[in-house]
Amino acid sequence: MYSDKVMDHFKNPRNVGEIENPDGVGEVGNPVCGDIMNIYLKIENNIITDAKFKTFGCGAAIASSSMATELVKGKTLEEAWDVSNKAVADALEGLPPIKMHCSVLAEEGIHKAINNYRKKQGLPEWEEKNPHSHEHEDVTCEH
Ligand code: FES
Repeated sequence: MYSDKVMDHFKNPRNVGEIENPDGVGEVGNPVCGDIMNIYLKIENNIITDAKFKTFGCGAAIASSSMATELVKGKTLEEAWDVSNKAVADALEGLPPIKMHCSVLAEEGIHKAINNYRKKQGLPEWEEKNPHSHEHEDVTCEH
């Protein structure tokens, strides 16, 4: 069911933990399954210099957080904002359709952390280009 890459990032997740004094934090939850993801970012001169996560969720959510934090490190905030859940899933060599929504958590977590940083800087928050709505997802979450 899962690609080798998903299994690798699930079994050996990168960037697990918290950043002390993070510049941006994002907490998102998936109301469908109750899983929660926390993202922590360190930002210097508009570049994400470090990213960590704590995820209480399914294997696909853990693999997605691991990959998403890897993908945004070293990127500008604009580039990181454009890392979609599909990009995360592609980097994981695909997720089963029933698990795609788990990667949405990663995209939303990064977005929330970026906006948390922007808010603290007194900058306007960015708007979601493609708002995901869990309410209308007719998926069942299987752990
Ligand atoms: Fe809840 Fe994957 S995030 S099942």
